Amino acid sequence: MLRAAAGLGRPKAAVPGMDLAGQVEAARRDVTLFRPGDEVFGLRRAAFAEYVSAPVDALVAKPSNLTFEAAAATGGALMALLGSAREGRIRPRRRVLINGVSGGVGTVARSDTVAIMTQSVPRPVRWGILGTGGIAATFASDLKLVEGAVLAAVGSRTAEAATTFAARHGFARAHGSWADLAADDEVDVIYVATPHAFHQAAAAVCIAGGKHVLCEKPMTLDRPSSATLVEQARSRGLFLMEAMWMRCNPVIRRIAALVADGAIGEVTAVHADLGLQGPFPATHRLMDPALGGGALLDLGVYPINLAHLILGMPASVQAWAHLSPEGVDQNTGLLLGYPSGAVAALSCSLVAATGNAATITGTTGRIQLPPAFFMPRTFTLHRGGDTEVFDLDFPGKGFQFEAEEVQRCLAAGEVESPLMPQATTLEIMGLLDAIREQIGVRYQPPRSGQPNSGRTTR
Ligand SMILES: NC(=O)c1ccc[n+]([C@@H]2O[C@H](COP(=O)([O-])OP(=O)(O)OC[C@H]3O[C@@H](n4cnc5c(N)ncnc54)[C@H](OP(=O)(O)O)[C@@H]3O)[C@@H](O)[C@H]2O)c1
Repeated sequence: MLRAAAGLGRPKAAVPGMDLAGQVEAARRDVTLFRPGDEVFGLRRAAFAEYVSAPVDALVAKPSNLTFEAAAATGGALMALLGSAREGRIRPRRRVLINGVSGGVGTVARSDTVAIMTQSVPRPVRWGILGTGGIAATFASDLKLVEGAVLAAVGSRTAEAATTFAARHGFARAHGSWADLAADDEVDVIYVATPHAFHQAAAAVCIAGGKHVLCEKPMTLDRPSSATLVEQARSRGLFLMEAMWMRCNPVIRRIAALVADGAIGEVTAVHADLGLQGPFPATHRLMDPALGGGALLDLGVYPINLAHLILGMPASVQAWAHLSPEGVDQNTGLLLGYPSGAVAALSCSLVAATGNAATITGTTGRIQLPPAFFMPRTFTLHRGGDTEVFDLDFPGKGFQFEAEEVQRCLAAGEVESPLMPQATTLEIMGLLDAIREQIGVRYQPPRSGQPNSGRTTR
């Protein structure tokens, strides 16, 4: 299990009559200092420990029951301690995290823990969502969990859908066209949530409007069109990231770190499958070649990304798929071979009650991810005859982590994320192209402009 941090206990009763100075002094005692990457108890803090592992110097937590003023003052006091302990390498205190609720200094202390991170508080990031379907709703819900995220505007093909979505999910403005959303001066970044076939056109409209983009997976229908988008974003100095949320999940990040540390020896195999049972009507986007349908681009991207995260690019790809009458792949198997001698056996399906689990096997151990492996809260590490279970509970479905990563990048002035670099997107898009060539799935050329009709069924 994740290690519980020493010195952090249940909420204490308020200390009657203790003045501000007394509270601050009390809070300065028994400080727990977490190093970057340390495992910290509890969800938010564990997530933050992962989240801050690269850019942040340290995280401090202190059991307390402080007033508002004491929390703020204690932040300063603890940072002074940290600063002296770390010989001035510390950046100024700018953030206080209280019982998992983070905010600037001044956040009301209503529970037992104060944590100070030496990271600047990102300025509020104003989000737009383009498309009002299923995943847009899920993302909007998790976006509410993200500190600093402002639900600014929604863009849709119709004003009616935009207005309904904005009202339901609490967005400030609704636009009846993609262009109007892209022109909204009070939007910083747009999450593109249309079916795959329109990702390129929609993201291009956003980039042309000077907006940063988080684009649903797959980035586009093929590598050349993804490369075009990357080029467009780079030439404008704008952030662009494929929304491969699995790679931002703290459990997945933990697994990648463990594997990189040699926790299971040399990796020999990745097994993963992902499916939906269906059946889907022929009009559903998953069955429609004009909408980039098929299991590979919708579901296969997760096993492929997991294998890529662990093993990089394969030297050999063999694919086989059973195609639907519409010409999209509905049951697909992949065998990837790597220069190291490792293999990946991956599958995806639109017709099967698949297990949706994954295993990463190495010479000295293995890691098992239960269903649904692409949005994990837990995994099991088997090594040396021992079994360790890692749990990370968190609210929401886990889309908040990719949104947090986008905001971190924007605050840091980064135009792509190290968690899902553009080069990785392009490599995987190229892999998908090669697989589609083998299985005989061909899409129409990517469309441009905003389509006016043809709502999908989901
Ligand atoms: N990360 C994940 O776990 C996850 C899960 C599901 C889907 N996805 C991805 O998210 C994307 C959308 O999936 P979804 O299930 O949300 O799709 P969806 O509900 O079928 O459609 C999403 C929205 O796109 C717009 N749209 C639909 N048909 C369109 C068309 N012909 N032309 C232009 N816009 C159209 C509609 O919004 P308006 O009516 O407002 O224009 C629709 O509500 C896909 O690329 C998929 O891969 C990701």
